[in-house]
Amino acid sequence: MRIPFVAANWKMNKTLPEALEFLNAIRGQLPPESEVESLICAQSLFLSQMLFATSDQPLKIGAENVYWKDSGAYTGETSPKALASLGVDYVIIGHSERRKYFRETDEMINNKVQAVLKNNMLPIICVDETMGQREANEKVHWVVSQVIEALKGVSPEEAQKITIAYEPSWAIGTAAATAKQAEDGCYLIRQTIADMFSDECAEQVRILYGGSVKPNNQAELMAMPNIDGVLVGDASLDPAIFLKLVNYQ
Ligand code: G3H
Repeated sequence: MRIPFVAANWKMNKTLPEALEFLNAIRGQLPPESEVESLICAQSLFLSQMLFATSDQPLKIGAENVYWKDSGAYTGETSPKALASLGVDYVIIGHSERRKYFRETDEMINNKVQAVLKNNMLPIICVDETMGQREANEKVHWVVSQVIEALKGVSPEEAQKITIAYEPSWAIGTAAATAKQAEDGCYLIRQTIADMFSDECAEQVRILYGGSVKPNNQAELMAMPNIDGVLVGDASLDPAIFLKLVNYQ
């Protein structure tokens, strides 16, 4: 049984006071973790204050990125070991914005996945697909190869704990993919996991859809057999909308 997962990606938005005000506004109104897992991923610089502010709430806190070395002369980077020491549960890896603006490669993403697992955190691996690739019918090759490359060297025991987010970049901040298009991408990812590891492992892995998710399209998306949750950008910045998203049932 895969527990539905609603994950917010605040991206590079909110100051510390704004983040704490948001957390105060949602206090006491989140669903139990046994029904829906709720997560907010925010800028690393105020994750510790967010964790402190929500320690008695059914809410997980995650990072949006991390480096793959635990320590050393890497000025400005965030150590996975340090992130884990805060009590961070999840780390988004390979978001399309990181692949595009920061030139993250599949190899870098694979390094990050391994570093996060080694530090006992859970990766949410984003796999992307552009409209050009979709129109050229390269979708299958593109999404599958990103999953294969991201999971190189990952054991079956580790693989079943990961989350993968299907985020076609043509649907981010524009109009969502249809539920059928989103389901097709998520189905493809689950089949890839089954081929790489096993059917049992593929049954455990949670697969999210991301791209213009709002309260009015969420239920249809989450009713799809291979969509276990959503990764939400813009709509997650407003506490009232976030509460609608986590309390969608
Ligand atoms: O990580 C989240 C995605 O980039 C989706 O963003 O909901 O603003 O389209 P969006």
